[in-house]
Amino acid sequence: MFDFLKRKNNGPVIDILPVTTDMHSHILPGIDDGSPDIETSMKLVQGIYALGIRKTIATPHIISDLYRNTPVTINAALSKLKVACAEAKIDITISAAAEYMLDDHFLQLLRDPLPLLAIHNNLILTEQSFASATDNLHHIAFEMITSGYRPIMAHPERYHFYHQNYDGYSQLKDMGFLLQLNLLSVTGYYGKPVARAAKYLLANNLIDIVGSDLHHERHLEMLQNPKSLQIFNELLGDKKFNNFDEV
Ligand SMILES: [Fe+2]
Repeated sequence: MFDFLKRKNNGPVIDILPVTTDMHSHILPGIDDGSPDIETSMKLVQGIYALGIRKTIATPHIISDLYRNTPVTINAALSKLKVACAEAKIDITISAAAEYMLDDHFLQLLRDPLPLLAIHNNLILTEQSFASATDNLHHIAFEMITSGYRPIMAHPERYHFYHQNYDGYSQLKDMGFLLQLNLLSVTGYYGKPVARAAKYLLANNLIDIVGSDLHHERHLEMLQNPKSLQIFNELLGDKKFNNFDEV
């Protein structure tokens, strides 16, 4: 479990994340509420590389009223970032998919002949509104699965409507969702109820995948924080995540 620890002076210093693949981030420049420009994107990439990330899957939002990203907008931003990483000689693998809001626009895309953007094989990252639970979640999950996709629910621990009803997490699994935890959730960054829910999900082995959901430099600073790194490795270091061949 502790072979990722690097000993310096008298005590152990943990300076890397417990995973080497990040499958949820907003590091592509200028296309959602994540990195606004290539300079910021490069700072974020350099930051996660220093934390041990060697493969990252950028997942810009696709939200009907806010971010109508398409494969064209996403691939253009991805190309820009890949060129900049190659010029800076950062040896990191970057690909892109999307984080789909489960709204009417998503249902249109799901029924469109053009395939959805998968983070790996048929795995599709989805999110709900933070304001209220999605009405027809069962139906959407069923339609995704019968269309050949496997849905992932992004950061289930962050939705307040599950905080009084942890059974909702098992119900998500029963619908066919894989569950993706945000690393920062366990630190209390999003508040105590979110940290509690994150720890419940981990303790009950309900989490399949973890990601940074990295949007900006404040997130990066929190990921780099020594106390955060200690918590990540204590809670996640002996679990297996991000091995997409096994999910
Ligand atoms: Fe996200």
